[in-house]
Amino acid sequence: MTTIYRGTVLHSLAPDRFELRPDAELVVDDQGTILELRDASEGPTEGETQGSVDRRGRLIVPGLVDAHFHIPQIDVIGIASRQLIDWLREHIFAAEIANADPVIARDRARRSFQGLLASGTTAVAAFSSRHTEATHIAFEEAERAGIRALIGKVLMDREAPDALIEPAETALADTRSLIEHWHGRAEGRLAVAVTPRFGITCSDALLLGAGQLAEEFGVPIQTHLSENKGEIARIAELFPDAKDYTEVYERAGLIGERTILAHCIHLDGCEIDRLAAAGACAVYCPDSNFFLHSGRFPLLESRKRGLDVALGSDIGAGTSWSLLEAMKMGNYMQVEPVDPALLLFLGTLGGARALGWEDRIGNFLPGKAADLVVLEVEEILSGRSIESTAPAELLSMLIHRGHRARVEEVYVAGKRLR
Ligand code: GUN
Ligand code: ZN
Repeated sequence: MTTIYRGTVLHSLAPDRFELRPDAELVVDDQGTILELRDASEGPTEGETQGSVDRRGRLIVPGLVDAHFHIPQIDVIGIASRQLIDWLREHIFAAEIANADPVIARDRARRSFQGLLASGTTAVAAFSSRHTEATHIAFEEAERAGIRALIGKVLMDREAPDALIEPAETALADTRSLIEHWHGRAEGRLAVAVTPRFGITCSDALLLGAGQLAEEFGVPIQTHLSENKGEIARIAELFPDAKDYTEVYERAGLIGERTILAHCIHLDGCEIDRLAAAGACAVYCPDSNFFLHSGRFPLLESRKRGLDVALGSDIGAGTSWSLLEAMKMGNYMQVEPVDPALLLFLGTLGGARALGWEDRIGNFLPGKAADLVVLEVEEILSGRSIESTAPAELLSMLIHRGHRARVEEVYVAGKRLR
């Protein structure tokens, strides 16, 4: 049996192209796979037996993709400090130490995935803490929530409190067991990412082992790169023989097509070119970049040089769970106005690409999973009807007034989660 979702459908087709269908039908099979996106006037085809989810007057968009999120930081969101390194030391490390308690870890994981789904996010790349048990728990809770999640145990073996560091061999052995247990589970909704925190907290041996492990299993890598000037200065001290920050990761085999790099704010042109050539992806986290005064991600230059970009909340340095708000801030942070089509792309299809799931999610092409969000947008449109609003205006209003959109329903692979 198929299910028809009817409403006003909006999705990204490319960085500079989106489609708005005022009265459309998404035809989804019983596996939750999209068979067809058509105008309502075209259907139904003969012999189709169907359930109906009639959401006329509502906007149906693809599930949003948050490409950078920290589970153990959800209870310290918004506690301002100075910049990155001080903030980590004064607020974040203590919060992450508490993740050693499985009860706390489970509660945070559950609230993380529920909070993301409530914001319309159906896929996330998340950092756990350095705790192996907490990371297993995060996977259990992601599976239970039904969200798509790429999750990593945070690797650290220096420059942090004792409770947060561990020997490289233990960190890598536990990551291996996580991969063997969880990677590809829950019909492929779960993935393990090898997750060195950043160069400062990782010895060369740990970085190298992380690169080898990711290569051995073909799993994604997520880390932070070039977020803050103080961070970069410390990297230069710790790795005096590396010509730049990017090389610290390159020589460990950490830069490739499956690499997700949060921030990438202060790279020089040569570093951006090398990342682009390797097929890595940068994650733009404007809310976090404002909050920690990290600087401005060179969005247009990075894209012009061929670097793939996605969008992240970076909770808990980011303060908003909503990728719609990240799109808005992503525009405001730039000097030049950003095309709304690009902002939509970053939060959907670009994120899908970053997480390695472009063939499965990110828009409504046939063959992809029906990960979708039903939005009530009456207030955003200030009394206009959704069907009569021009596509470019509607998209711009959605992005810039996204905090007024109500997330009414959320589906992953055709299964209603909210
Ligand atoms: N760099 C290393 N760790 C972190 C973190 O937890 N948050 C952010 N924003 N940057 C980091
Ligand atoms: Zn981060």
